[in-house]
Amino acid sequence: MRLLVTAGPTREAIDPVRFLTNRSSGKMGYAIAEAAVDRGHEVVLVSGPVNLATPEGLTDGAAVESARDMFEAVRDRIDGCDAAIFCAAVADYRPVKFQEEKIKKTGDSLTLELEKTEDILGSARPIFGFEGVLVGFAAETNNLEEFAWAKLEKKGCDLLVANDVSRRDIGFDSDRNEVRLFFANGRRQSLPAASKSALGAQLVEIVETLVAERGRNDGMME
Ligand code: CTP
Repeated sequence: MRLLVTAGPTREAIDPVRFLTNRSSGKMGYAIAEAAVDRGHEVVLVSGPVNLATPEGLTDGAAVESARDMFEAVRDRIDGCDAAIFCAAVADYRPVKFQEEKIKKTGDSLTLELEKTEDILGSARPIFGFEGVLVGFAAETNNLEEFAWAKLEKKGCDLLVANDVSRRDIGFDSDRNEVRLFFANGRRQSLPAASKSALGAQLVEIVETLVAERGRNDGMME
């Protein structure tokens, strides 16, 4: 299968030397991309800035900075993919105005006005017209299950992978993770704490099953 993976954080520039970002390391997305290459799939990796080596054997890749760059890179590559896994921790807001020159500390306080970024996962169905298997990630600190079901439905996902980022021992920036899976057919599954590379391989296998099921359903509709 052909698989698109987004990974890492984004950077939203404030001025030439400053940006807004988050704690994502990109490890989960890279682990998924590596596992998929190992299992013989064509992998397209769209990555924000990370300190990780680019996996060998990618079919295509794009290194991006901002949410807008990531949106465009995904839009230009998602066509023809059987599955898309949106693992990136995309900034939800960016500064309304990029200051061309470095902001000087003239005032006692500074207010930054922010605007929403493009919702890449939320664009997959309505804007990109993507019809393959769609997998979203959710990082939650509270009400994980309730938010997961709502996000799955709102974004048109087949699978939502949720992790509890209030725990410091797993998740963001850690080598290990523990996730709960919520499927569009109402099924739930927990993947116990494991290395991100072991989880990546499990997730790729699950996505393979979803792609095969979708193929069978499409065949029945014809
Ligand atoms: N995502 C995206 N584009 C954005 C924001 C998020 O593609 N601008 C994707 C992430 O890659 C992830 C999923 O959306 O797969 C969930 O991101 P999250 O920030 O948890 O969800 P939001 O829908 O932004 O909702 P909220 O922040 O309110 O929980």
